[in-house]
Amino acid sequence: MWLNSQRLLLAVLYVLGSTRYIFSSAEPLAMRQAQLQRAWAEYLLNSNNSIDSKQNQNTAESPVLRMAKLQSPAPHMAKQRRQGGLYQDYYFDQKIDHFDLRGNETFKQKIYINGESYVPGGPIYLFNSGETPASPSYLAAGEPYTLAKATGGMLIIMEHRYYGVSYPVSDMSGPNMRYLTVENALEDIAHFARNAPAFVKKSVGLTIGPENKWIATGGSYSGNLAVWLRKLYPDLFYAAYASSAPLLISTNFYQYDQVVGRALPCAQNISDAVLTLDAILDSGDRSLVASWKRAFGLDALKSDFDFAGALTDQLSNTVQYYMPPAKGSNSPDAIDTLCSWFNRSYNIPLQNFADMTAAYIKNNGIDPVSAYSSASGANNIGLYQDGRSWYYQTCTQFGYWQAAPPGPLRRLRSKYVTKEWQSKPCQAFFGEDITGQPDVSALNRKLGGLFPNVTRVIFVNGLNDPWSELSVASDPSVAAINMQYGENVVITMSKASHVTDFYFSSSRTDFGVDIARKRILAAIKTFLQ
Ligand SMILES: *[C@@H]1O[C@H](CO)[C@@H](O)[C@H](O)[C@H]1NC(C)=O
Ligand SMILES: *[C@@H]1O[C@H](CO)[C@@H](O)[C@H](O)[C@H]1NC(C)=O
Ligand SMILES: *[C@@H]1O[C@H](CO)[C@@H](O)[C@H](O)[C@H]1NC(C)=O
Ligand SMILES: *[C@@H]1O[C@H](CO)[C@@H](O)[C@H](O)[C@H]1NC(C)=O
Ligand SMILES: *[C@@H]1O[C@H](CO)[C@@H](O)[C@H](O)[C@H]1NC(C)=O
Repeated sequence: MWLNSQRLLLAVLYVLGSTRYIFSSAEPLAMRQAQLQRAWAEYLLNSNNSIDSKQNQNTAESPVLRMAKLQSPAPHMAKQRRQGGLYQDYYFDQKIDHFDLRGNETFKQKIYINGESYVPGGPIYLFNSGETPASPSYLAAGEPYTLAKATGGMLIIMEHRYYGVSYPVSDMSGPNMRYLTVENALEDIAHFARNAPAFVKKSVGLTIGPENKWIATGGSYSGNLAVWLRKLYPDLFYAAYASSAPLLISTNFYQYDQVVGRALPCAQNISDAVLTLDAILDSGDRSLVASWKRAFGLDALKSDFDFAGALTDQLSNTVQYYMPPAKGSNSPDAIDTLCSWFNRSYNIPLQNFADMTAAYIKNNGIDPVSAYSSASGANNIGLYQDGRSWYYQTCTQFGYWQAAPPGPLRRLRSKYVTKEWQSKPCQAFFGEDITGQPDVSALNRKLGGLFPNVTRVIFVNGLNDPWSELSVASDPSVAAINMQYGENVVITMSKASHVTDFYFSSSRTDFGVDIARKRILAAIKTFLQ
């Protein structure tokens, strides 16, 4: 779920075919998850995975932009071209508060439109980019683009309020965050859809009207939005396609690690290491704790909780963003690489874990204090911090705190990594009223949780995605019930992880992704008949 922060510059360098990256940031872990997800999406779209590499050589320009230049413009694109081409951004006057505390005051919400393949009367794919800034890369790559092209559709990308440049307020102080609610975000999309004919005509000169069928789409949180739009505004949204949507909102998301454990062959060794670590933390022996912090390369972290929390970073990112190396490539498999650290039987598992983490921190240039101190940046209220916005949404509505599991379940993270620890900085960030333990059962009742009672929705999940545990694919019976509601389609990919179908390149056709994509297109065509 995540670069637009002035306070910190996340420099991300993904190495093709592996999940290595380099970043230096001043963000606590919860906020960095948002940044990482966005960076990953950018990577997939801008790497050789997504674009024919033959067109990319000998230039520093983005492959996606280059590809767009190679396309000959359709006649109806003439106006767009004049205005700046496919990547022209447009701004919709959006209400600051749909629930009327600020009357009719508006802010500028960023919109991109690709009408290159549009046939009059064709479907309109609305992709709200959720907790990531709207990226014009999606106008020329990714699954929504592919679907629009294949069905004579129009693709509209809308930036979510409080992300990218679409801010209704002038700073990010606690009180100013109050218009950031999922209800306002959903109503933004509905309000746009109702007013789209005039906006699209004025912007790109194309005509749309009541005959066009709207298909909501998105991945991860924005996949949730797609499902919820179909639920709450069935008259506006005819169908939806949701990738990796964690529909069950939960403040105690301990299931995350259960998937990480299934994906990692060395899970038991990690669990053994964590139990040893907890015994050391329990011991209260400060010099022992200090020597292990040093062994992990984390001696700069004063708090034991922050130390324990930091250890989940590498495991989570390796699994959540895993993809197998492409056939014929000699890139290493990221999971094998991680687990090979635990094959050294002359060490206790904790030493292997420490060696692995110390190397990760060193090789990726991570500054432990800025990356892993849970309250760093709390007082920075400057605009353009996507991570801060997502943190607010988790503090006030979603939780999604990835916590140590209860009871007998195998633990891959310290017992000190609790939902309370993760939500504790909420008050420092946003004020005393924000406890970080939102009433998720009320929100689940309203939005339906795992049973949203919708029809004509395509749910796609990778079973190696830790977030799939909060999705309709978490259990076959949950999937079956959802399919009974009507024309819903549940598609799973056993080896894939988070939003793989949505962002993945069309050149990767292995591990079930191509099959999923064919089924998505077939379902859309059936819906449209
Ligand atoms: C993409 O492919 C080209 C040609 O095969 C190669 O030179 C280049 O380094 C690759 N880019 C990345 C980001 O790996
Ligand atoms: C908002 O605009 C509508 C329609 O233009 C108008 O009827 C209404 O009175 C306005 N409300 C406020 C509070 O200004
Ligand atoms: C342990 O991992 C290393 C690095 O991947 C590998 O070279 C070595 O063969 C592995 N050893 C065992 C016993 O699996
Ligand atoms: C890793 O865990 C497995 C399963 O418990 C165990 O058989 C193996 O000895 C462990 N290896 C090391 C090096 O700790
Ligand atoms: C599902 O929604 C329909 C209306 O679209 C309603 O009639 C029905 O009672 C709902 N079912 C459940 C189980 O909520």
